[in-house]
Order: sequence, then C-alpha cells, then structure tokens
Amino acid sequence: MSATLAAVQPRLTVDDALAVQVRSQFPILSRQVNGKPLVYLDNAATSQKPEAVLQAMDRYYRSSNANVHRGAHTLSREATDAYELSRVKVAQFINATSAREIVFTRNASEAINLVAYSWGMNHLAAGDEVILSVMEHHSNLVPWQFVAQKTGATLKFVRLTETGEFDLEHYRSLLSDRTQLVATVHVSNMLGCVNPVAEIAQLAQQYGAKVLIDACQSVPHMAVDVQALGCDWLVASGHKMCGPTGSGFLYGKEDLLLSMPPFLGGGEMIADVSLERSTYADLPHKFEAGTPAIAEAIGLGAAVDYLSEIGMDRIHDREQALTAYLLAGISEIEGVRVYGPSWTESGEIDRAGLVSFTVEGIHANDIAALLDEEGVEIRSGHHCTQPLHGELGVSATARASVYFYNTQADIDAFLKALKSTIEFFSAMA
Ligand SMILES: Cc1ncc(COP(=O)(O)O)c(C=O)c1O
Repeated sequence: MSATLAAVQPRLTVDDALAVQVRSQFPILSRQVNGKPLVYLDNAATSQKPEAVLQAMDRYYRSSNANVHRGAHTLSREATDAYELSRVKVAQFINATSAREIVFTRNASEAINLVAYSWGMNHLAAGDEVILSVMEHHSNLVPWQFVAQKTGATLKFVRLTETGEFDLEHYRSLLSDRTQLVATVHVSNMLGCVNPVAEIAQLAQQYGAKVLIDACQSVPHMAVDVQALGCDWLVASGHKMCGPTGSGFLYGKEDLLLSMPPFLGGGEMIADVSLERSTYADLPHKFEAGTPAIAEAIGLGAAVDYLSEIGMDRIHDREQALTAYLLAGISEIEGVRVYGPSWTESGEIDRAGLVSFTVEGIHANDIAALLDEEGVEIRSGHHCTQPLHGELGVSATARASVYFYNTQADIDAFLKALKSTIEFFSAMA
C-alpha cells in the first residue's frame, strides 16, 4: 500500500492557522513528556479538553451542583436546566428531530449495550440475522454476541475489499428477509475508512431491517446528520469530541425509543412505582436510571458549542490536510506498512485522520514506548478490533491519530521519532 501512497504528490505544507488559534485553549498541550514538548497523537482513543469544557464543569460544581429532575429548589433547577440544555445542543449538533431522541450514556459502549439489551434481547429470535462488519470495534461486536447467544439470532459479517474498505457487494449478498439489524461503524478506528452508511442504511431498510451506526470516529471530526444518514440509532463518545470522559450518547428515532423497554431500572426513569410494578418516565428519561453524569453532560454541551463555533467543515478540512501530510511522510519510510485506504485516483484522500501501521521486525508496543520517550503519544495494540487485526494477519499495529489542534510540527516530530526508532532497531539487528 505504501507504494501507491508514495506515487502521489503530497501536499507539502499544512496551513496551521486553526491550530495556532486554538492550541492555547487546551492547557495540556503545553506540558512536557519525558522532557520533550507533548505531541499528542492518540486522539482516536480520547481527545484533549479545551478551557471552555473544563470551565463549564467547574462552574457547575462551584455554583449549581445539585441533583437533576428532583428538587424544587434553585440549585436543582439550575442543574436540570444546564443538563437539559446540553441535550438540546447534542440533538442540534447531529440534526436529531428533537432532544427526546438523545439519551446520555457514560460512553458509546453503554449506548450500544442499551440498544442490545432493550431492543435486541426483546426483539430477536432464532432464525433472525444481524449484520455487522469484520471491522467493528469490540463495543459493536461483544454486545451482539451476548444477544445472539441468548436469543439464537445469527451474526453475519461483511468482509473487507482488497483496499481495506467495507465490501458493499458482499453486504448486499448478506441482506435478506431474515435481516433484522445492520450495526456498523461509520469510520473505522483502525483502517480510517469512511463507510457509505447512508447507502448501507437505505439497503437495510429495503428489507425492513433496523440500522445502528457507531459514529465514535465520525461525529468528532465531520458534520454528521442523522436524518440524512437515515439510521435508526447512532452512538458516539463525548470524550472523543473535546467532552469529558464519562460522557457519550445514544440517538434513536423517537417512535423506536418509545417502543423500547427500559434498559436499567431505578430512580429518575419511573413515572409511578408500587411494590409490584412500575410505569416509566417519558423519553428520554426512561433510559437514564439513577443520578446521571451531570457535570459530564454539561461539559459535553460546552464541547458541542466549542466545535460548532469552529465549524465541523473547517475541522474536517484541516484534518484531511494533516492526514495527507502524515500519510505522505510515513509512506516514504522504508519498512512501514500502512493499513486502510489510500489516495483516490484523483489524488484526494477519503479517510479519517488516523493511520495504523506496522514496521517490519519491530513490535507496535516497542514503537509506542520509544516514541513516548520523545514526547510523542501514539496508540499500540489491537485498538479493540482484534477480529479485524486477525483478518489483516497482524496481532498489533501502531496508530497515530490527529485532531484539529495538531500541527504540521507535530507530524514532523512523529515522523522524526519513528525514523530514529527504526534506525535504533536496525543498529541493534
Ligand atoms: C469505532 C469505535 N467504536 C466504539 C468505541 C467505544 O467508545 P467508548 O470508549 O466511548 O465506549 C470506540 C472507542 O475507541 C471506537 O473507536
């Protein structure tokens, strides 16, 4: 794959104007690691947090901390208003038709489990089929394994094309009247490919199947419109989009969420309770049992404001430029194998800002450890996609992933550290 990349003329420089504008708003970006300036390239795992998010959470704890939906007092009203305003912001951000379609969760995994337990366990039976792809994150695989084991439904897997993308033809061949659900990733956290999820959804719906999109790697990086995608559910992680850890959400079409039973029982999610039975709260509270992560939801609302102010198209364009620069640089290094799609024939890239790679003769964990000594933070391992790594015949890869606050200098530092690492291992050999 690197041969194809090298054949394309790279963009020689990246316009860093946006990074220059925003970097000082991320306090962590000015720290040092092992005596070197931090180069944070593990954004696909979690993003850094701007002052606006830190301050929103701090403000809540300092001035409005109280439980939500419970008290008639001022603090509870303020907390409830701020919490519910965040829900409205998230709904607008992904163009949901109403805030009732947004359920706050601790992360994307919990959102998928919510659908698996509430809808999957109650809806699926032996003879039904669920279509996933081989590139799913474990979060969009293991919950469906639970459901299949319990209900007798069968899991089917869309394979990869030769260029490491979602094989639409194979997908078409798997669809049938038995298909009840298609659950797939929008942007692969290992390959970086952008799957044609609107088309995937449209095809599924021809068979009356429901569609769940794992948008963890798309919502933080590009404009995502759930109505345009036509999906039934969509999940994302707040912590990958400048929001705090402990924040994520589920989008679901309102009539579908209405038809689904609660996932967890407890306070907040009920209307009336007797000793024998209960009735449940209206949407979306029916799915939010117990005291929610209030500060985190408020922080996520602030993150949505922050990203919206910059503009998702601007963020996407910048990441495309950084990725082109990164791919061009890494493809020139001998012994490196890059996974996922490459440039299109017209010289454009159609992939997300994450690059998974291996280096001949060096384990990914050793690469990450040596880069860390230079202050460069990247991920190594199977990135929670063990089956995909198996398909590709590798047990581990290293992954560098960018966000809009990264600079050309960050990529240069990464490339320099990677070359030194390879030289170090060559010298030892
Ligand atoms: C594609 C994808 N799906 C799901 C997840 C799980 O997200 P969370 O950790 O918020 O549950 C991740 C996180 O890495 C991801 O990249």
